[in-house]
Amino acid sequence: MYKPTRLPATLLAIALMLFSLPCAFAQHRLHNAEEEKIKSYPWMNPSLSPDERADMVLKELTLDEKIDLVHGNGMPGWGKPRPNAYLGNGGAGFVLGVPRLGIPIIQMSDAAYGVRSSAENGRYSTALPSNLGSAASWDPQAACEYGALIGRELRAQGYNMTLGGGVNITREPRNGRTFEYMGEDPILAGTLVGNRIKCEQAQHVIGDIKHYAVNDQESGRNEVDSIIGKRALRETDLLAFEIGIAIGNPGAVMCSYNSLNGNFACENKYLLTDVLKDEWKFKGFVLSDWGGTHSTVKASAAGLDNEEPMDDFFGDKLKQAVQSGQVPMSQLDDHARRMLRAEFASGIVDSPTGKAVVDVEGGFAVARQLAEQSTVLLKNQDSILPLDRTKVQSIAIIGSHADMGMISGGGSAQVDPPGPPSHWQEHVWFPTSPLKAVAAKVPGAKVQFDSGADPASAAALAKNSDVAIVFANQWESEGMDLPNLSLPDNQDALIEQVAAANPHTIVVLETGTAVTMPWVDKVGGILEAWYAGSKGADAVANILFGDVNPTAKLPMTFPRSVEDLPHPKLVTPPPGAHGREAVMRTGEAKATFSVNYDEGLKVGYKWYDADNKPVLFPFGYGLSYTTYAYSDLKVAPGNGASVSFDVKNTGSRAGAEIAEVYAALPSSAGEPPRRLVGWSKVQLNPGESKHVRLSIDPKYLSVFDETANAWKLVPGTYSFMVGGSSQNLPLSQKADLK
Ligand code: BGC
Repeated sequence: MYKPTRLPATLLAIALMLFSLPCAFAQHRLHNAEEEKIKSYPWMNPSLSPDERADMVLKELTLDEKIDLVHGNGMPGWGKPRPNAYLGNGGAGFVLGVPRLGIPIIQMSDAAYGVRSSAENGRYSTALPSNLGSAASWDPQAACEYGALIGRELRAQGYNMTLGGGVNITREPRNGRTFEYMGEDPILAGTLVGNRIKCEQAQHVIGDIKHYAVNDQESGRNEVDSIIGKRALRETDLLAFEIGIAIGNPGAVMCSYNSLNGNFACENKYLLTDVLKDEWKFKGFVLSDWGGTHSTVKASAAGLDNEEPMDDFFGDKLKQAVQSGQVPMSQLDDHARRMLRAEFASGIVDSPTGKAVVDVEGGFAVARQLAEQSTVLLKNQDSILPLDRTKVQSIAIIGSHADMGMISGGGSAQVDPPGPPSHWQEHVWFPTSPLKAVAAKVPGAKVQFDSGADPASAAALAKNSDVAIVFANQWESEGMDLPNLSLPDNQDALIEQVAAANPHTIVVLETGTAVTMPWVDKVGGILEAWYAGSKGADAVANILFGDVNPTAKLPMTFPRSVEDLPHPKLVTPPPGAHGREAVMRTGEAKATFSVNYDEGLKVGYKWYDADNKPVLFPFGYGLSYTTYAYSDLKVAPGNGASVSFDVKNTGSRAGAEIAEVYAALPSSAGEPPRRLVGWSKVQLNPGESKHVRLSIDPKYLSVFDETANAWKLVPGTYSFMVGGSSQNLPLSQKADLK
């Protein structure tokens, strides 16, 4: 029997290897040759402008390649996967590239306060404080760090586009996505989201701003017509987008699910073309919210560039419409050009993503610092805070699973904590344990936990402790609104009972929006920590013990009761008004019910100010462990106005004061009593005084003139007011502006 020896086998292997080498080299050469060819294309020259580069590529595209650029290819979990699903990166969707021309696939992921879907993809993402929390920092630099971290983690996970950037104005504080947005003031919200986007895109991901526009509640979001006058629209909801886009220059705008003044946002010509593309000169692309496209010809003509996540209207139907002349080729070209331009402008062509391990420790440090800058000290009676670690010997930690974590916001914004994938609208606690963080501050003290399930037992523990800290949560999510602004699950009663047992009670709120506080006068201290992210507990403990002096201020009003809201009763879809079928009843998409935002310009604090309604905590409010004094306000008119004043730290700790500037327009302007027009975060050592100078953008002092379809500065006498919150403005100065 023939028995092969080792030698011939080795020889055979060598022979085989020698034979196959030229093939391998040939393939490699081919690959290299292809790459070299791509690199040599004129549009690969980074010194050309994104417009020039996009134009060049566009000329090379076939009709099918253009169509490929203007629609998605499905989303994991959204119907049956398409045959090309393997090209996806596990995110919310992807848009095909044009490999032969060096144009990459756009890989998109939700990334509101961190990158989504980590668990099912076996990755890790940092959870930052909620977007609303980050707005409480009032700090463009903090917003920049927020965006940069998310941009880095997106790229490390193989994504080159974010779906973050939520900036819908808080008109309806029960909106279940309030935590994903930046509060109730368009100038504050727009400035912060713009800085976030700018720094996110600097990491070479396509940035996004959403949901354009007036998707201000979740109830019936796919069926509702948001009705609002043009002037109010431009001065409130759209102003936030206008500022955000001007600062951040995002590659993409996501149009929203709802209809606006009679037309669905993703086929609303006024929104997408007249305002966004023509007036604001937006050069990026408009993508629909997921399933928010309702037509082919109308949507394309209105200015929708990309349907997500499927191709129901912008696939074959669009191709046929172009071939039959119903959609001009120039229109399709504009959509495709915008997609290409965003790819070049963001740098994803020149700097392709390379998967990497995210910097977990670095992410934690950023998450903690941002949470510290987001946590608002709402009450500090008799300076109960900061806690004196040399004196306190026993602490009761009560409620909200504070032994193991802090709650986070749900829906497509949800970031996964370590462990298996979280499910849609599951309550998710991040493993950032307040109990452990507090205990670590006072190693010698007795720190005990009570779940709060039985208020009597919690009160008993509180009674036997020097201090009681009650953690209370209000969870919210995309896809639902809150029925009211009360803390759920009997937590008000828990706080009442604990406070009755121990006057040294501090409440730490983990909320996505404002909450009412029937116990406000009974507790010693209140901290609003929002959804605090991966390192929320450390941030809260640092503030409780004074290692960090709080600086944050409310980006939204906390009303005394839902009865004081512009719409005390939330408008929900009537029977039969729900679902796609109802919307398509006439063959053309039509909203089935409406919400009339007849409060118009009076959003948030402007509503309460105009009606002289007392509030629980006003917009712009937040305490510090030190005190500040304001003096010497001067206002000089000229290209808007120049405002200067002094702020002094009159206490004994270093701190940073967010100094706020409001303006009252001449009464002929017909505006609410005052609006925020500027602010500055001033770092001050004890006793230190600084001179602050701010130039106020003329647009921030203007009104939108519907007849002229333009912003107009109303000539007359303006009052400028300066201070520490919208209701604490010790300085005031008049100026005549022309
Ligand atoms: C949300 C968007 C999100 C998209 C993709 C939609 O339901 O409204 O904000 O980006 O899903 O997950």
